Amino acid sequence: KSKFPLKEMLNRELTQLSETSRSGNQVSEFIASTILQKQHDVEILSAACKEEKKRRPMSQISGVRKLSPSPSLPPTCTPRFGVNTQHESLLAEELEDINRWGIDIFKIAEFSGNRPLTVIMYTIFQERDLLKTFKIPSDTFLTFLMTLEDHYHVDMAYHNNTHAADVVQSTHVLLSTPALEDVFTDLEIMAALFASAIHDVDHPGLSNQFLINTNSELALMYNDASVLENHHLAVGFKLLQEENCDIFCNLSKKQRQSLRQMTIDMVLATDMSKHMNFLADLKTLVETKKVTSLGVLLLDNYSDRIQVLQNMVHCADLSNPTKPLELYRQWTDRIMVELFRQGDRERDKGIDISPMCDKHTASVEKSQVGFIDYIVHPLWETWADLVHPDAQDILDTLEDNREWYQSMIPRSPSPTPKEQDSRATLGIAGSAGEKFQFELTLEEEDGELEAEEEHTDKDRSSTMMDPRHAQTSPRGVAPVLDSRERELDQEATSVSILQLET
Ligand SMILES: *[C@@H]1O[C@H](CO)[C@@H](O)[C@H](O)[C@H]1NC(C)=O
Ligand SMILES: *[C@@H]1O[C@H](CO)[C@@H](O)[C@H](O)[C@H]1NC(C)=O
Ligand SMILES: *[C@@H]1O[C@H](CO)[C@@H](O)[C@H](O)[C@H]1NC(C)=O
Ligand SMILES: [Zn+2]
Repeated sequence: KSKFPLKEMLNRELTQLSETSRSGNQVSEFIASTILQKQHDVEILSAACKEEKKRRPMSQISGVRKLSPSPSLPPTCTPRFGVNTQHESLLAEELEDINRWGIDIFKIAEFSGNRPLTVIMYTIFQERDLLKTFKIPSDTFLTFLMTLEDHYHVDMAYHNNTHAADVVQSTHVLLSTPALEDVFTDLEIMAALFASAIHDVDHPGLSNQFLINTNSELALMYNDASVLENHHLAVGFKLLQEENCDIFCNLSKKQRQSLRQMTIDMVLATDMSKHMNFLADLKTLVETKKVTSLGVLLLDNYSDRIQVLQNMVHCADLSNPTKPLELYRQWTDRIMVELFRQGDRERDKGIDISPMCDKHTASVEKSQVGFIDYIVHPLWETWADLVHPDAQDILDTLEDNREWYQSMIPRSPSPTPKEQDSRATLGIAGSAGEKFQFELTLEEEDGELEAEEEHTDKDRSSTMMDPRHAQTSPRGVAPVLDSRERELDQEATSVSILQLET
């Protein structure tokens, strides 16, 4: 029996999903390649040296560019939100929602003259009084932020400054959740916000696996391990050394060291191939959670504290489907543009097109439903357990959005014979057209039908990684939370591709 029931369960579900239809197969491959070890496509690279541009190896961190004119502001004339804009009052109106889940970050990008990251960070640091606490001169702070913001690519549909601003603001809201009141120190809070701000800087809009497969400089530099995440960190820290950019200049040596360690731990945790490991650990933490007499979480060592922060930033990074639908749909459109662009490059290069990256065959709606069912909902459900009941509204929105995408899946005229077959075998009504068979769950597989399982549209599999679910399973896959689960093979998962890293 496998040491890793959580992975085994997911694998089994994905195998079934892949058998339902061609597009089901594509979505299943996409999920598997995002968070599970890649089992195929591993080829021994040719030993023959490629003709490389002659450059001194590792002489510098490649993403750091000199920018002109200098974005630095004279300290005397700091605008209200840190940037010059003609729409200050409109911006002010939007920023009133700074503490709210679902702020309109696209409007903030527009009203700030495409400076959402600078404006969001400046507003949140003011709100939390962090500039005073850590004696950060505001001109240095703004110079750093604009330099950082300029190192997000402007021509990137998804992984641009607006996504960074969105993750910062989402982290800010999660930090304020009542269950975590006064749990984290100001230094930890600043680290979480800083990590969110730098977490995708200089993102090329390509996945780790693409960079590895094409023998990119970055993959060479980081030996194929969390290539992008290591790069984002390196660029983020390197930018602190630019002129008037060291926002941590007045921290003690010990504070700087601690902040650096926490930031590294948080940004590396945004590597989607680590998702299953972090989720397994979070479930263990939830199972053993201790609460103070005031009803807030008790986290008494670094390991527990950083784990919550890592999952928090990871949740913020995967928060698009938990936002109001009109915002979520905009994010979906953007990620698809980026994935299709990678697919086009793969097609041009004559290499295999990554799952969901082929504009001719991908199903946007199905991929979102699959992404929610297998990745986003299991994560947020566990987070909601951790901070119960604070995240109930977030979870409700997520479920509503899932239903919306499910309802938008185009119906095909008639199921293929193969689909009819699998439906007949599994005793599922054939009216669902080409829809996913999400009702395939462990229980059903065991012929243990509950009344509500008659509803074919019911979201079932989102609960598949729920420990309570597992424990009631007749197959007794209970040790989901067993410490063995945490031994999930780090090395194996780190080769997985990052597909929809957000
Ligand atoms: C913080 O550091 C800057 C740069 O080293 C220095 O000029 C400034 O006086 C310091 N601020 C405070 C409040 O210590
Ligand atoms: C990147 O984000 C900015 C800010 O919202 C947006 O204006 C721009 O359209 C995005 N880039 C692309 C290529 O879509
Ligand atoms: C941290 O604390 C938790 C809960 O008290 C405990 O289970 C865990 O073993 C501790 N970890 C370390 C590394 O000390
Ligand atoms: Zn991201």
